[in-house]
Amino acid sequence: MSAARSTERYRLQPGGAVRGAVRVPGDKSISHRALMLGGIAEGDTAVEGFLASEDCLATLAALQALGVAIERPQRERVIVHGAGARGLRPAAAALDMGNAGTAMRLSMGLLAGQPFDSTLIGDASLMRRPMERAAVPLRLMGARIVTQDGRPPVRILGGSALRGIEYELPVASAQVKSAILLASLQASGRTSVTEPAPTRDHSERMLAAFGVELTRSARTVSLEGGQTLRGAHVEVPGDFSSAAFFLVAGCLAGDGLTLRNVGVNPTRTGLLELLRQMGADIRVRPLRGDARASTGVEPVADLEVRAGPLRGIEVPEALVPLAIDEFPVFFIAAACAQGETVLRHAEELRVKESDRLAVMAEGLGRLGVEHELLPDGIRIRGSGELGGGTVDSHGDHRIAMAFAVASLKARAPIEVLDVANVATSFPGFVELARTAGLRIEALRSALGSG
Ligand code: S3P
Repeated sequence: MSAARSTERYRLQPGGAVRGAVRVPGDKSISHRALMLGGIAEGDTAVEGFLASEDCLATLAALQALGVAIERPQRERVIVHGAGARGLRPAAAALDMGNAGTAMRLSMGLLAGQPFDSTLIGDASLMRRPMERAAVPLRLMGARIVTQDGRPPVRILGGSALRGIEYELPVASAQVKSAILLASLQASGRTSVTEPAPTRDHSERMLAAFGVELTRSARTVSLEGGQTLRGAHVEVPGDFSSAAFFLVAGCLAGDGLTLRNVGVNPTRTGLLELLRQMGADIRVRPLRGDARASTGVEPVADLEVRAGPLRGIEVPEALVPLAIDEFPVFFIAAACAQGETVLRHAEELRVKESDRLAVMAEGLGRLGVEHELLPDGIRIRGSGELGGGTVDSHGDHRIAMAFAVASLKARAPIEVLDVANVATSFPGFVELARTAGLRIEALRSALGSG
């Protein structure tokens, strides 16, 4: 398990503008899935544009520990030599998923029907996160899974014969949906998962690309167990969730900023819609795929953004799962808008890498932003500008990057504490942010001195 707290921090000078062309690293969700599906496929899978971040490298190391041969001829190019449906082998030790909830929950599905036992652990943040949401449906399929008061370590006992189920997800969670779909591949009969609202559908698209037949309606996906996956060629687009920081930066202080090669799967781009409702000037220039289609390859586009006045909005409930990872930086946009922004129905934010409602509220308070923390959301009174000060990210990568973006509209310097986990999703963030125009430097201080 990694240390609970890092000594790395950002120092940001106020103001500046962002411009030029930025290319963010590969999509985290898609990179995890490409490794896992590649691992249980027949034949080789080539992954181009792989996200070489700590989270995805945890998945890569876990698969290697399970006996999958993986080569990385380049930093962002991975070849997975598929072990086939019955080719995984018991790991010699517990699988450490680091900070990665996706790695842990999807692995629960991947390992539920294996003939051997597995144990999943993670860093201090992951060890606090709820795992029963994935364990419950997997047990209904016949898996034997033990959590500790609902949290990791997760023990998966091998040798269970899985059977298909019909399951309605109580929470809109792509991770739980994906865990069930991965387990269903090893189950007898048909599995159907119905979600309360659409969530990211990368698993469904990628399963189809690996040759799995599945049927999809608006909220239900079904597949027959026992199908063989065939290795595929996966081109990973830029991560919309990483582009989000530059998208908001561009809305606040953009002077001709282009984000190149960004994944614009409609189950991910809720933030685009929210920013547009606030009055943002964002253009989407499609490159490949159809962003309106719900099947086929992942759609990719260049995004062009220009600064302009933003106004507060009430976030429509349907957009919450489609923007779930973008709320930290969306709150910065709200704080810099004129008028009130209200988010409700977002209690899921309390069980992410940190309690993102509480941690963001604390940081906004430090910068003098008027707000009210709600049980399932937040009310933010924007005034167009922020103060400076010291903000604690509590080790949450997206919160650290969100407050870095805040500096563009701050009146005084901002320091963001405990930022090492930015490497879990966005290696090279500081360099890219500086190239675009943020006045950011990364510092390492002695533990305890802040
Ligand atoms: C993810 C799904 C989301 C998201 C997470 C990545 C995925 O979590 O917050 O960062 O790759 O499936 P939930 O499915 O728990 O909402």
